[in-house]
Amino acid sequence: MAEDLLFQKEIKEAVRSAYEHITAGGGEPVAGRLYSPEQLSRVPPGAIGWALGVGNPVPHAELEPGETVLDLGSGGGIDTILAAREVGPTGRAIGIDLLPEMVERATENAREAGVDAWTEFRLGEMEDIPLEDESVDVVISNGVINLSPRKSRVLAEVLRVLRHGGRFCVADLTVEEDLPAPILTSDAAWAG
Ligand SMILES: C[S@@+](CC[C@H](N)C(=O)[O-])C[C@H]1O[C@@H](n2cnc3c(N)ncnc32)[C@H](O)[C@@H]1O
Repeated sequence: MAEDLLFQKEIKEAVRSAYEHITAGGGEPVAGRLYSPEQLSRVPPGAIGWALGVGNPVPHAELEPGETVLDLGSGGGIDTILAAREVGPTGRAIGIDLLPEMVERATENAREAGVDAWTEFRLGEMEDIPLEDESVDVVISNGVINLSPRKSRVLAEVLRVLRHGGRFCVADLTVEEDLPAPILTSDAAWAG
């Protein structure tokens, strides 16, 4: 076994364990840096408390009323709720997350935001999206795809669920050069 690599199963377990064990999100310090005051006034405190993203994809997605939007790795639901406000009750907002705890939190936050009639959160993995082919107009994601050991599989799944002419709007981390082995073998670096 190569000593400078973590394998897919190990990476997945490290990510699952990291997000299972955190007891709070970034809260105001993170959300206040990423989102406008107007956006923050449109989401409940629970969603702000669990903000764990790296950017603010929704304004760039140019969502229209009536569209169906999918949020990969929806966490506490902040971006799904913001997207739900844009697509409105004639549209649909769907968040998927690996962890039941996140699905429960986000569902509660959407209820509090009053968007629950057209918003749903499903347990699922971005490498195996629990949606039909060509069923979504826009896929968004915030700080999640970097966590996958199978990024090309995630992109293939995004392409599968998007309708013809669909849009993909992501905030994420990228690397521009090879990472050193101590980073590549660090659970914390993969999960963080
Ligand atoms: C960094 S947090 C971002 C949460 C949310 N997008 C936000 O901006 O607050 C990463 C989220 O992705 C979820 N996640 C990690 N791996 C996943 C996977 N393979 N499929 C779906 N969700 C995943 C985690 O459970 C966690 O909720």
